[in-house]
Amino acid sequence: MQDRHHGLFITFEGGEGCGKSLQSRMLFDWLVSSNKDVILTREPGGTDLSENIRRLLLVGNINSWDPTTESLLFLAARSDHWFKKIFPALTAGSSVVCDRFQDSSIVYQGICKGVSLDMLDKIYLEITGGKHPDRTYLLDIPPEVGIRRSISRSDNNETRFEKMDIGFHEKVRNAFLELADRYAERYLILDGNLSTDEIHDQIKEDLTQRFHNIFS
Ligand code: TYD
Repeated sequence: MQDRHHGLFITFEGGEGCGKSLQSRMLFDWLVSSNKDVILTREPGGTDLSENIRRLLLVGNINSWDPTTESLLFLAARSDHWFKKIFPALTAGSSVVCDRFQDSSIVYQGICKGVSLDMLDKIYLEITGGKHPDRTYLLDIPPEVGIRRSISRSDNNETRFEKMDIGFHEKVRNAFLELADRYAERYLILDGNLSTDEIHDQIKEDLTQRFHNIFS
């Protein structure tokens, strides 16, 4: 249940090249144009320190970190991001649109790489006190389509995760779908094969219906 004094916390999740960064940006722009107080941010990243951790994690050798160390780095980045940016914004009544969040750690490090889910949950609880996003949009798309899109982006040097084999990405896709099923009250699954505008329209309609006290 959303606290009426807090802004909305909206996250986007999905596999590589699913279009969530573009959709986060489009949602942010729409909220700004509707005069909503909102920030756009991403994980790993969002603060200077966390952007530095992002570089450590995403540029370079695919096997540079063992999965537990990798998880701790993602969580360290999340902690700085939460305390310096997300929590203060929500408390001040601003909404937050975040490109990836804890569910990415559950899926990539926990379900797909076998890191203890209990450990991931406990550290998350320590950081956030158990606050979860108010709404999570999962952009679902077959991995071969996503990887093709992602690799074709000319400016993309963050390729460590894209280099994992297709079987890994299938696992990621299924794990996100499982999570969306488990937390059905918070998740909406969107077909990433639809056009950008169609997906954006579905998101706007969903938010308007679900949080009509804010969007009326
Ligand atoms: P992102 O910048 O969203 O890349 P893309 O748009 O290509 O999907 O995320 C970078 C990578 O980091 C992505 O492969 C997923 C991974 N990741 C994790 O493994 N765990 C996490 O907790 C987060 C936030 C991201």
